[in-house]
Amino acid sequence: MEKHYIALQLSNLLGEPFSREWVFEQLEFPKQDDLGDVAFPCFQLAKVFKKSPAAIAEDLASQIDHEILQEVRPSGNYLNFFLNQEFISEHTFKQMLSKQKNYGSHSFGKGKTVVLDMSAPNIAKPFSMGHLRSTVIGNALANLAEKCGYKSVKINYIGDYGTQFGKLLAAYKLWGNEEKIRQDPIPELTKIYVKFHEQAQQDPQLVEKGREWFKKLEDQEEEAVSLWKWFKEVSLAEFNHIYNLLGISFDLTRGEAYYNDKMETVVHQLSRSQLLEESEGAKVVQLDEFGLPPCLIRKSNGTSIYATRDLTAAIDRYESYAFNEALYVVGNEQSLHFQQIKHVLEKLKFPWAENIKHISFGMMLQNGKKMSTRKGKTVLLQEVLEKAVEQAKINITKKNPHLTHKAETARKVGVGAVIFHDLKQHRRNDVEFSLEDMLTFEGNTAPYLQYAYARSCSLLKRGTFDIACADTSLNEQEAWPLIKQLRHFPEVIRQAYHDYDPSKVAKYLLDTAKQFNKYYSEVKIIGSSQESKRLTLVYCFSIIIEEGLSLLGIEAPAEM
Ligand code: ARG
Repeated sequence: MEKHYIALQLSNLLGEPFSREWVFEQLEFPKQDDLGDVAFPCFQLAKVFKKSPAAIAEDLASQIDHEILQEVRPSGNYLNFFLNQEFISEHTFKQMLSKQKNYGSHSFGKGKTVVLDMSAPNIAKPFSMGHLRSTVIGNALANLAEKCGYKSVKINYIGDYGTQFGKLLAAYKLWGNEEKIRQDPIPELTKIYVKFHEQAQQDPQLVEKGREWFKKLEDQEEEAVSLWKWFKEVSLAEFNHIYNLLGISFDLTRGEAYYNDKMETVVHQLSRSQLLEESEGAKVVQLDEFGLPPCLIRKSNGTSIYATRDLTAAIDRYESYAFNEALYVVGNEQSLHFQQIKHVLEKLKFPWAENIKHISFGMMLQNGKKMSTRKGKTVLLQEVLEKAVEQAKINITKKNPHLTHKAETARKVGVGAVIFHDLKQHRRNDVEFSLEDMLTFEGNTAPYLQYAYARSCSLLKRGTFDIACADTSLNEQEAWPLIKQLRHFPEVIRQAYHDYDPSKVAKYLLDTAKQFNKYYSEVKIIGSSQESKRLTLVYCFSIIIEEGLSLLGIEAPAEM
């Protein structure tokens, strides 16, 4: 990339202490065309060279020369680089045509493994908006990791254990209706669970019943275990509907319960390392030195908890995958929990503890309030996705009544819209949910990108484009901003993974599609004397949009 060449040349000229890396970080992409394609600010050199930045820019300009550069122009305190457009354009096209969708891939992750803890809905409870966010953010990060050369392992850490299952079992024994649960599992189970909660407030006997059933589950009594297994099965079947709609799968679906008989080892380890302390009958690890409350390992009644299972799971994952990074894609509200987990693992002297990262995210809001997936007693998320698909169908039919594959296209557009709406903002921000906004063709939406992609496919179909003998000699002013933009893709991918920030890709794609639409409105493509050259650019654009969307977990229909 041009930034590398320029950084190398400049650092050679400048000498110590201005390293190539330092220069690289200083280089900017100017927004205005007359300021060149790359700019270098000279302010910080003034002290060392005892000259004004403008004079330094003047000096440097006359000493730099490279075939990729058309002109190097001092301008005030900056040095502006104008690239050789003909050379760079041809180079870009050739590179993209040969790499195809591998354009933008990196190898810095080669030989390394990233495990992602993502989705993790709770059995017998509605799949919440938070779980949706975790699923789509985690999936995009796994795709980005792979694009950077890592091996990714997507783990769905289902919430299938805890004292709440004692309450659910007790509730089922009191009011459960097998037939109803079979028909509509999660809403029915939620209903009896909520009822139990309400009544238990007045009735201590119920609380006791819940405890008894949890004990039965812990002791692996047959009835308790088989009911619990059944709840799990019917819940997973519902979650799988959602995963199918989203087109997302996992490498491993393994719940909290898996760790039940493995936690004892960890508790021993903690105790051997003299990290366990008694506190009001419970066992805890003190974390004062980090300014954190103690991490609860075992409750006073002997039952283990969330943190202990997570500690056990982390160790087990390290033993299985020897991960280089473990990403936990979980909402902001669990930030304390993950700080505690990491510090406890550090205190156990696991060197890999530093590679545990909480990838936190904000809430999904509706009218400024936390969005609930529980309306009355029904589950909404699946409905939300289905509604998006339905609305997408209406929108695309309006735009193109003769579209074939309507249902399939509507699914890609509707689901893509929901995913993109989530990913286009920085994950830590709260997201306001609006079906209308996410589905318009004109806004910063997935349909806008998909439409630009479909337009490029249709141009390629109508015109005379042949990859095998593509003409790579396009050199025109109108095309230059788009070509430059295509060149940024690899760097955007690197940054997006480095910051665990898929929104960088989303924003980049929006800018790219805007450039493309501008180009399309400025030049005639089909039927012009430049047709085959221009189609090469159209083709390269289509590669970037398709691959970029696919990294975000979104499909791009060729027609819409
Ligand atoms: N099931 C949990 C919840 O819904 C999220 C689990 C997140 N992952 C983890 N390793 N703790 O709140």
